[in-house]
Amino acid sequence: MMRARIIGVGAYAPKRIVTNADLEKMVDTSDAWIFQRSGIRERRVADESEATSDLAVKAAQQALERAGLVPDDIDFIVVGTTTADMQFPSTANFVQHKLGCRRIGSVDVWAACTASIYSLAVGSQFVQTGKYRRVLCIGAETLSRITDWTDRGTCVLLADAAGAAVLEASEGESGVIDADLYSDARHWELLYMPGGGSRNPASHETVTAGMHYAKMKGNELFKVAVRMFGECAGAILERHGLGVRDVDLFIPHQANLRIIEAAAKRLGMPMDRVFVNIDRYGNTGAASIYVALEEAASTGRLKRGDLVLLAAFGGGVTWGAALLRW
Ligand code: UT7
Repeated sequence: MMRARIIGVGAYAPKRIVTNADLEKMVDTSDAWIFQRSGIRERRVADESEATSDLAVKAAQQALERAGLVPDDIDFIVVGTTTADMQFPSTANFVQHKLGCRRIGSVDVWAACTASIYSLAVGSQFVQTGKYRRVLCIGAETLSRITDWTDRGTCVLLADAAGAAVLEASEGESGVIDADLYSDARHWELLYMPGGGSRNPASHETVTAGMHYAKMKGNELFKVAVRMFGECAGAILERHGLGVRDVDLFIPHQANLRIIEAAAKRLGMPMDRVFVNIDRYGNTGAASIYVALEEAASTGRLKRGDLVLLAAFGGGVTWGAALLRW
């Protein structure tokens, strides 16, 4: 069976670093609280000239270069994001143009932070069915743009970055083995942005009410996240006749170190096989798994033939897991 093999990964994080000490000057918080409750020490924030597609293009260029490809080699682009450049056209559309690709199809996938897994799943399906030979999958966010910098519950967590993976049709063992996707909008009020859509179109009133900022019930979301994370990661392994012992590296969405640790414990996964870089990047939404994948690959943490388990959750709520052979 045809598999979508990852032949190049790339990542980009804006230059500007915002430390916990910087946040102490903006809201009533402390470095100790942020680190103990989330595992975050610093995060990156895009400068005013950078939109989500700009971050995405930089990550994509690195992924293409590492794959030994040029933009014309790509047949389709999928971008997972919650912070599109505009309501329309799609961010993927801008990426297609800025990269200098042919007039190929491009689409955004909206699934909050789980758009990492969703975009990888969409891209790999096009490859597995034989529709496209090479698909560029990207997770990119400028969450700083929907952050209320006076709300200490969210501003200490959210951050900006982009990551990319080039998928290519391959008949070997390597590639995306499977991906499971879930959603349940009974919990939508745990994390959402109320303004700017058709429910509450942008107006002076919505802006005054701060409805263009992400709203989060962090503690409730925390509990849901731990449960869903563990469940979906265990389920995909079980369906493939695999166990935690078979997994060489678990790359979870980097939302909160305590969530990652609790989910790993639930799953029975020792932390030395769990990839963590939230300390340096914070929660970069749909980008986090791609950024982590790039770092794991470029630092030699991933070796050819490794079995990799990915799992994410986010607003909606949405959650999902993917299995791949590196
Ligand atoms: O990608 C998916 C998106 N989001 C998430 O996954 C987030 C999931 N949730 C979390 O990461 C955690 O719930 C938080 C890090 C947001 C908060 O940690 P927590 O342990 O759940 O804290 P809490 O919300 O229960 O708040 C505990 C206390 C409260 O004070 P009182 O009521 O006990 O006096 C908060 O007001 O901590 C207070 N607090 C803060 N204190 C200092 C909340 N935020 C802060 C802060 N600095 N930044």
